[in-house]
Amino acid sequence: MTSPTLTPCTLTAGDLLLRPLVEADEAAVTEAMADAGILRWAAGRVVADAAPADRGRVWLTARLTAWSSGTAAFAITDADGGGFLGYLGLRDIQRVPDQAVAAYWVAPAARGRAVAARALDAAASWAFRPAAEGGLALHRIGLDHALSNEGSCRVATRAGFRVEGTLRESFVDPAGLRHDSHLHARLATDPGGRPRRG
Ligand SMILES: CC(C)(COP(=O)(O)OP(=O)(O)OC[C@H]1O[C@@H](n2cnc3c(N)ncnc32)[C@H](O)[C@@H]1OP(=O)(O)O)[C@@H](O)C(=O)NCCC(=O)NCCS
Repeated sequence: MTSPTLTPCTLTAGDLLLRPLVEADEAAVTEAMADAGILRWAAGRVVADAAPADRGRVWLTARLTAWSSGTAAFAITDADGGGFLGYLGLRDIQRVPDQAVAAYWVAPAARGRAVAARALDAAASWAFRPAAEGGLALHRIGLDHALSNEGSCRVATRAGFRVEGTLRESFVDPAGLRHDSHLHARLATDPGGRPRRG
């Protein structure tokens, strides 16, 4: 199946605004890529292997065009003021019919406000809506996180993504260490998330 071309859009979640990433996000993304947690769990091997000064550009370049190849790539920002807080992505949209895979990270300075869970809940709710209501009409969104990444497990659970099992040695971090991962998923028919307010 060819990747669908998605129409870039914005979503709101309380005091958060999710909008397509733009080139002007590069400085904030570069700063975020200096965080050890983001680099280890969320940046991807190509970015981790790049020189530190190049990591933000490498990560961002791939996502500026992602909407045309099956990934909804959102910057999470403050609705009031527009400050950059993090990333929420739904990738592999329709690679398996009616499904997608979620990923997220939050810049260190923005943590502690349930930003990821609220953004994930909002993005899933949008993606499950029928196309006639501006959604993607998906049925299932999955995600996985290394077992030791307990914060990510809380985010997923708060956003209504139930644990479905353990994927053995499924994630290789940039240092080459293999980690077992939790598989989580939320269905269109599941109750929505209940993220705490930020
Ligand atoms: C995971 C991450 C996105 C969460 O950021 P956030 O949205 O600011 O999350 P918060 O700090 O508000 O915490 C959310 C929940 O996780 C818990 N949590 C956060 N860090 C934790 C940790 N190190 N250990 C255990 N629980 C943790 C919080 O107590 C909170 O729980 P609650 O909802 O029950 O109150 C952020 O830490 C991050 O970007 N980490 C690096 C990248 C990453 O791991 N991405 C996910 C890859 S699968």
